[in-house]
Amino acid sequence: MRQNAPNARKTYMKETTMASEKVLAHLDAHRDQHVDQLCDFLRIPSISSQSDHDDDSRRAAAFVADELRELGLEVETIELGGLPLVFAQTEIRPDRKTLLFYGHYDVQPVDPLDLWDNPPFEPVIKDGIVYARGASDDKGQVYTHIKALEAYIRTGEELLVNVKFIIEGEEESGGESIYRFTEENPDKLACDAIVVSDTTLYNESIPGICYSLKGLAYMEIRVDGPAKDLHSGSYGGTVKNPGNALAEIVAGLMDADGRCLVPGFYDAVLDLDDEERAGFAELGYTDEILKDETGAPAAFGEKGYTTLERMWARPTCDVNGLVSGYGGEGAKTVLPAKALAKVSMRLVPNQDPDAVAKAFADHVHAIAPAGVTVEVENLHNANPVLVPRKSDMMQAGMRSLEQGFGAKPVFIREGGSIPIVGTFQEYLKSPVLLLGYGLSTDNIHSPNEKFHLDNYWRGIRTSAILMVEAAK
Ligand code: BES
Ligand code: ZN
Repeated sequence: MRQNAPNARKTYMKETTMASEKVLAHLDAHRDQHVDQLCDFLRIPSISSQSDHDDDSRRAAAFVADELRELGLEVETIELGGLPLVFAQTEIRPDRKTLLFYGHYDVQPVDPLDLWDNPPFEPVIKDGIVYARGASDDKGQVYTHIKALEAYIRTGEELLVNVKFIIEGEEESGGESIYRFTEENPDKLACDAIVVSDTTLYNESIPGICYSLKGLAYMEIRVDGPAKDLHSGSYGGTVKNPGNALAEIVAGLMDADGRCLVPGFYDAVLDLDDEERAGFAELGYTDEILKDETGAPAAFGEKGYTTLERMWARPTCDVNGLVSGYGGEGAKTVLPAKALAKVSMRLVPNQDPDAVAKAFADHVHAIAPAGVTVEVENLHNANPVLVPRKSDMMQAGMRSLEQGFGAKPVFIREGGSIPIVGTFQEYLKSPVLLLGYGLSTDNIHSPNEKFHLDNYWRGIRTSAILMVEAAK
C-alpha cells in the first residue's frame, strides 16, 4: 500500500460547512442501504465486450435509469447501435451552475475465473471491503454520485447546482456510442464541470486529484507462415517459424534500458515541469511500495526517470498478449503456422495516438524478418488528457475531497485511460474534475476486484459536498 507522504497532513477537519447537516445525516443513516443497493448493481454481469451479456448490460442501464427516474430526473435511454447510454438531468435553472457526472456501468470480463475467491457477480463483504467485478471500476464509483444526489432529493434540501448524468456501457470495450452522442449533442451535455469518478485515491489515507490520464494506441501484430502447423522435426530449419519471427519483432520494440525503439515515439512528449517533478518526489513513493503492490521482484523502466514519473508521465510500450504454438501440458513438437501479439502503447500529453500507431506499424514492417507475412492493426485509441491544475473548479474539487475524506488531497496523475474524457474537453470545453475513489490495489480488470466501503462512503460525502462547493 502506498504510504503516507511525509508531508501529508492527516487533518481530520471539523465540519466547515459544506453540504447541509441534514444531507450528511441522511447519508450516515443510510450507509447500510447504500451498500445493499450497490450490491444489487454489482450482481448484474454487464460485461460489454461479450455480446452474450448484452441483455445484462441493458439491465444495468435500466437499473441506473430507474434509480434516476425515481429521483425525479428526466431520463433518456439512448441506443446508437451499441449498448445504451443513460442521460438524465434535474430541472435546469439557468441561474445555477451545472455539473455533468460521467461514469460507466459496464465491466471487464472475469477470466481467469478460477482465481476468484468468490463468484465475481455475487458480491461478498469482508472487513469493510466489497469484492465483485465492477466494484471499483466503475459501478461503486459512479454510484456515489447517484446516492449523493438522492440525499438532497430525499431530505428536500435545496440543490444549488443543476445535475446531469451521462452513463455509458461501452467504456471497457471501445464502443462508439458515447462519442457520437457527445459530438451530436454538445448542448445537451453543456455544463460548468465534467465530474468523473473512475480513477484512484493517492493511497488509503490521502485523496488525490488527478490532472492527467494517459492515452492509448493498442496494436495487434499477426505473423503468418506455413498454411498449417508443421512437424517441427520434418520441417524445422526449412521455413521461417512465425513464433521465432514474432519474438524478433517484439525484441525490436524496446531496448534493454526500457526505451521504446519506434522512431519518433518520444518526439511530441510533453516533459514534466519542475513543479510537477518536485510534487511527485514529495509524495515519497518508493520501489519497495511498488514491489509490495505488484509482487514484482524488482522495479524496471526507462532510465533517467523515477518510478512515479514513469508510471504517470512517460509513454510505455508493453506486450499485452503473446500467442503461438502449443502451450498445453507436456511437449508437442510443432512448428506453428501463426503467431500473434497484442501491444499497448500508453501515451502522454501531447502524443497523437494515430501518429504513434502509424509509426509503430512502419517500424514493425521495417524490422520484420523475411519468410513470413506480417500484418499490423490499430485496434483501439484514446487521447491523453491534461487538466489545468489551477481553476475555480479544481479548487472546489480540492475542498470537497478534503472535507469528504478528512485529509488534504495531493495532485496525482494516472497511468490508465478514460477514452471519452479528451472528447468531452474538446466538445464541451468545460473543466474536468477527476475525483477518484478507488485504490491502485483494487484489482481492477483482475480477479478479486474490490472496493473499500470507507472510500465508498467518503466518496458519496465528497460528491454531496461538491454539489455545494461547485456552486460557490
Ligand atoms: N477506470 C479505468 C481507468 C483507470 C485505470 C484509472 C487505472 C485509473 C487507473 C477505465 O475503466 C479503464 O479501464 N480504461 C481502459 C481504457 C481502454 C480500454 C481504452 C484502460 O485504461 O485500459
Ligand atoms: Zn476499466
